[in-house]
Amino acid sequence: MPDTALLDQTRSLIRQARSIVVLSGAGMSAESGIATFRQASTGLWSRYSPQDLATPEAWRNDPALVWGWYLWRMAAVRAAQPNAGHLALAKAAENRPLVVVTQNVDDLHERAGSREVLHLHGELFAHRCFACARRCSEVPIPAVDDEPAHVDPPRCTHCGGRIRPGVVWFGENLPEAPFRAAVEASQSCDLMLVVGTAGVVHPAAALPSLARQHGASIVEINPQQTELSTLADVCLRGGAAQVLPKLFDASPEQLG
Ligand code: OAD
Repeated sequence: MPDTALLDQTRSLIRQARSIVVLSGAGMSAESGIATFRQASTGLWSRYSPQDLATPEAWRNDPALVWGWYLWRMAAVRAAQPNAGHLALAKAAENRPLVVVTQNVDDLHERAGSREVLHLHGELFAHRCFACARRCSEVPIPAVDDEPAHVDPPRCTHCGGRIRPGVVWFGENLPEAPFRAAVEASQSCDLMLVVGTAGVVHPAAALPSLARQHGASIVEINPQQTELSTLADVCLRGGAAQVLPKLFDASPEQLG
């Protein structure tokens, strides 16, 4: 847990901020049991190849491999619960302007009660047709399994194309509206909390620097040093579920 002086300094930045942006990454959901991407041995990209699973070419080559892998991840998310960090952010947004900009494709911020959530890398459960792009919500999610299986993707009831997961793959553009909103929020916030991201995937990783250029203070919450640490005014070394409740649990009056 970070020392009290750093927690106090961050509480003071929160108290003074007129608007807060939280940029979250995979570490935000780690304490809910969802694997991150780049952590040694446990990260998804240490066990699976992004080229084989998270690109449009991978999908064209072997849709059953890709769909099965995403179904496996969907099952893990369905079985998980928001952690104390997600809950603290949702509660904090009840009495101050706070936007969550997330790289996560899970729905744990929403299930914790956050209403303003911008998904930069798409949403695991927002399936759509690969051919005609129509949304498809009726996809049965299997029970959690140890390993992914090959599963043929369902077909679009409109055009017969294959249904794909609603995520952004490498080589694809970010969804325009959430990205534009995230840029605007980053340019206008007073404080950005950067939670649980390694800060290596762009353009999301450029948002803290953009916020800083526009005058915001930056606080990093992460057990490890990252590419973004040198940019931060304060680095709180700890897990999101441990640290975030410590920052927001007290009411603004109590903190004052
Ligand atoms: P990474 O897996 O690259 O980084 C996870 C970060 O979370 C690391 O810096 C960890 O130290 C930190 N972390 C681990 N446990 C934590 C905890 N309990 N509390 C806080 N932080 C913790 O994940 P991202 O940076 O989110 O994109 O990855 C960005 C993108 O790369 C993902 O959205 C995904 C991936 O490829 C696509 O698939 C397009």
